Order: sequence, then structure tokens, then C-alpha cells
Amino acid sequence: MNLIEHRKLKSLFARNKAWAKGMTDKNPDFFNHLSKQQSPNYLWIGCADSRVPANQVVDLDPGEVFVHRNIANVVVHSDLNCLSVLQFAVEVLRVKHIIVCGHYGCGGVKAALDGKKHGLIDNWLGHIKDIYRLHKQEIDAKPTKEEKIDLLCEKNVIEQVSNVCHTTIVQDAWSTNQDLSVHGWIYSINNGLLKELDTKVCDSKMFRHMHSLND
Ligand code: CO
Repeated sequence: MNLIEHRKLKSLFARNKAWAKGMTDKNPDFFNHLSKQQSPNYLWIGCADSRVPANQVVDLDPGEVFVHRNIANVVVHSDLNCLSVLQFAVEVLRVKHIIVCGHYGCGGVKAALDGKKHGLIDNWLGHIKDIYRLHKQEIDAKPTKEEKIDLLCEKNVIEQVSNVCHTTIVQDAWSTNQDLSVHGWIYSINNGLLKELDTKVCDSKMFRHMHSLND
């Protein structure tokens, strides 16, 4: 590592110190209180993209949102990492809302559509390609490449909301009337704003109804 890079990295510790001081200046008990417990209301499942940091875009402090991020915010039924986060959030933390948040211009979605080879990640992007095949006609009808990508970004969020609802974890929670809803949101990198997609699911009855409409 050259000297400049080394200094940049070191500066992160200085920034961390200043941040921690700022937090305790505002609330002297902040870290002491958090160290004893976390009780977030929200589970955020988002893209790993550095431009979509969960806490910052909804202006929440540490302790307020439990977060899982991966490339293109995908919820796969065999992904033990994501499922473990989901289980802990629902069964132990008892979050009230699960938010699947995609974003326009997602690099993962773009890569799934470009027809090129990207190596290992193509196995992951296969999940996005499956969603494209489901909505091929509607997506292909969009005039520009950007619009095709953005529509697939939205379809992906809707599909992942459905995947979350299908898990045994969420199904079990609903079967015991646990207060839990699942939401699909999308974020615009170019203006910093979130938009709610029409996918909110509050219980298994609502889920079955939506699902029968989609079938
Ligand atoms: Co992305």
C-alpha cells in the first residue's frame, strides 16, 4: 500500500472517533444504551451498492434497522445467509416490517441483461435472468436500455417481496398472528428518494390473495 492510501485508511479511524464523539455529545448514554440491547423495528434487505446505505437513506441511527445486503437485493430460498438474517430478525428481534429495497440503475440487474460473461457472479445473476424471462414482453417493449433496466429493477423487488413472503419464517410468523408486514421499495440514486412499489403484504390472507391474482 502506498503512503497516500495508507493515510486515507488511517483517516477512517479519525473520522470514526469524531463520529462517536458527535453521537455522545448529542446523547451521552447512546452507546451505553445500545450495548445492552438492539430492538430494531425494521429489517432492510437491500443491494450491496455503496450508493444505497440503509441507515443513511432513511436517516436512522445505529440500532434502528437490521440489515442484509447482497448484489441486487436477491432473496433466494437456499441462501442460508439471507435466511438466517431473516429468521433472527423475525423470531428474535421481532421486527414489524421487512423492507426489500432495490434501486434504479442497479449494476447487478444491468449485468444480468447485457448478455456478457462476468464469471462467478453469473450464477448469482441467474436469479435476475429468471425474473427477466417472466416479464420479457413487458421489459422488451420499453424503448431504451435504461428503461428496460429500471423496469427489471422494479420487477426484481416485487419478486423478492414474494420470496420473503414464501419463506417458512414469514409463513410461521403469520400463522401465529405475529405483527409483520413486507414492503417493496425502490431508491433513485440520482435524487436520493425512495418510492413505495405496490407490493405491501401484511398477512398470509393478503399474500394468498395477491398471489392468486398474479397466477
Ligand atoms: Co444494485
